[in-house]
Amino acid sequence: MAEIDLLASLPKTKRNIQKRSEGKSLEVVAEARKFGQMKPGMRVLDVGCGKGFLVKDLMLECPGLEAFGLDISLYALLHCEREVAGRLHLGSAEKLPFPDRAFDCVLSINTIHNLPRRKALEALREIQRLSGGCAYVQVDSYRTPEQKALFEDWVLTALYHDYPPGWIKLFGDAGYTGDYCWTIVE
Ligand SMILES: C[S@@+](CC[C@H](N)C(=O)[O-])C[C@H]1O[C@@H](n2cnc3c(N)ncnc32)[C@H](O)[C@@H]1O
Repeated sequence: MAEIDLLASLPKTKRNIQKRSEGKSLEVVAEARKFGQMKPGMRVLDVGCGKGFLVKDLMLECPGLEAFGLDISLYALLHCEREVAGRLHLGSAEKLPFPDRAFDCVLSINTIHNLPRRKALEALREIQRLSGGCAYVQVDSYRTPEQKALFEDWVLTALYHDYPPGWIKLFGDAGYTGDYCWTIVE
């Protein structure tokens, strides 16, 4: 056996511990400890689910949760985790094949930037339509020209990317009211 860091090639987030420490209060800690209130029977969709690792983890974390995924890659779905077979749908984020408010929560991690801007906008509208705003989206971004240059060296698939204000403008244009975060190469 050997010690192998399987996540070594993934981008690392540099934590601003001082900022976190300054922002901590009893209220902030109490809010954080609610852990998002996932309950059995709630319906969650992961857009860009790949092989369904997050769908599986959510079901393990909260038994009884109705978790589903959608991905554009047939290869990913054909090689999905056994436990989620039948829960993953083939489709594209900008046209989600589900009725309005079909889910209590919609997640999409590191996927929406793979669409061109117009389709990213449609995807955000779709996520809002299905979730009513109880949603979380994480996308590629950068805060400085240096981070942008690093990102451009690293990126393979993203068709739309921007500084946070550009993304926030897109969220607003789409009427997206969920939460969001950035994946930043550092
Ligand atoms: C970087 S992977 C992220 C997978 C997973 N969400 C995660 O965080 O590990 C991006 C995923 O988005 C999927 N994807 C790319 N374009 C898509 C689209 N238009 N609609 C749905 N999924 C898409 C890819 O097939 C891939 O599984």
